[in-house]
Parts: sequence; structure tokens; C-alpha cells
Amino acid sequence: MEKILNVPNHIAIIMDGNGRWAKNQNKPRVFGHKAGANTLRKIMEYCNKIGVTYLTVYAFSTENWKRSQEEVDALMFLFKSYIKSERENLLKNKIRFMVSGREEGVNLSLMEAIKELEEATSKDYEMTLNIAFNYGGRAEITDAVNKILKDGRTSITEEEFSKYLYNDIPDPDFVIRTSGEFRISNFLLWQIAYSEIYITDKYWPDFDEIEMEKAILSYSKRERRFGGRLDVK
Ligand code: IPE
Ligand code: IPE
Ligand code: MG
Repeated sequence: MEKILNVPNHIAIIMDGNGRWAKNQNKPRVFGHKAGANTLRKIMEYCNKIGVTYLTVYAFSTENWKRSQEEVDALMFLFKSYIKSERENLLKNKIRFMVSGREEGVNLSLMEAIKELEEATSKDYEMTLNIAFNYGGRAEITDAVNKILKDGRTSITEEEFSKYLYNDIPDPDFVIRTSGEFRISNFLLWQIAYSEIYITDKYWPDFDEIEMEKAILSYSKRERRFGGRLDVK
């Protein structure tokens, strides 16, 4: 494989396809979600190894509450177990744990576990794992506008607006969506204005380091212009 020349500073992933992956094996959807959590661990460690600074992953959208109670409960349970089981690994690998999303609707003990791990991993870190959980791009923008109104502002710049979003981290350079859907599904609407996009047919549980390397190679070859011209400085 060619050498990776240009590693994105911030990679954001729509981890999609757990349900279809499980269905293909005649297994319940939750089996796919469990496999997806293992993929996340592998991809997170790989990103850390190659020098990614921020990894944002879409784990649960504000629209995912529409799913069956059984699936929603299983996803909440899985996230809580993940917080417990990943603690040592995050600390060992110097990864800061961060969650972006609406607190409203999330179980109190889960919220406490999130806050505790955020705090515990916030001192000494090299990479940030930002989990979009109970996250919606429109909800985030609406929440920002409400905070701005509360602050009594009458006008605002783009830079100031960005600071009202859930977390003050740089915009993603690269957005990956697994399982072949060509849509954004309410992910980071504000932040992806100039992100490069990559879609693979692989279901999330089948995504691995080799697929990630392929994706980053594709990114390395892109020419980002941000509306300007490379020949005019
Ligand atoms: C992504 O996999 C995980 C979540 C949305 C929580 P899906 O559960 O959406 O899997 P598919 O898209 O139905 O295959
Ligand atoms: C997006 O996937 C949300 C997550 C990966 C958490 P969905 O499966 O919810 O998106 P749609 O319904 O296919 O657009
Ligand atoms: Mg899906």
C-alpha cells in the first residue's frame, strides 16, 4: 500500500450498517451494535497510532429514538457498558473522551457516567474521541441559537457562533460514512461545510484498519480549495 502522506487532523465517521450486518447473519440487530463497538475500539486505536487529533463518531442520533424500545434500550445499555469497559484503554492510550449531544432524554446515571469519564480523561491526552450521542445537527444549531438569545446578543459572527456549539473543536477535515448511504442524516450540519466526504459500501462492523487506510489514501489525493483557487493566493 502507498504511504499515507496526509493524515486528516479531524475525522468524523457515520458508523452505519450494524443492523444490516446482523440481519445478513440472521442475528438480532443488537448483535450488530456489539460488533460495531468492537470496530470503534480498533479504529480509534488506529487513528491514535497514525496521528489523528480528533475522531468524532456518530453513535446515536436525535432521530434514533424512533426505533423499537428494545433496540433503544440495548443501545443505551451498550453505551453505558462501553464507558465502563473502555476506561482503562482510554487512559492508557491517552485518549480524551468527549460526548456531543443533547442531555435531555438521556438517563441520569448514564449522563453521570459520561461526565465522570470526560473529567477523568481530560488531563493528559493526545487524541480526542468525540462521541455524537443523542446528537442532531439541527438540534445543535437550535440549542446554540437559544443560548445566544439567552446571552442577549443582537448580532454574531461565524466564529462566535461556532463557540456556542456543543464542543469547541476544529471542523472535521474528512467525513466517512459506512454502508453505502449517500446522506448526512443530520450529522454535524454546521461543521462539515468544507469537509471531504467518503462513502464505502462496507457495513460498520466490517470496517477495519485496511479500509481506513484506503479512505485516508483517498483523502490524501484530494485537492481542497475552500472556494478559492490554488493558483491564486
Ligand atoms: C448504525 O447502524 C448504528 C446506529 C444508528 C445506532 P444501524 O442500526 O443504523 O444499522 P442499519 O443502517 O439499520 O443497517
Ligand atoms: C445515522 O444512521 C445515525 C448513526 C449512525 C448513529 P441512521 O441509520 O440513523 O440514518 P438513516 O436513518 O439511514 O438516515
Ligand atoms: Mg442505519
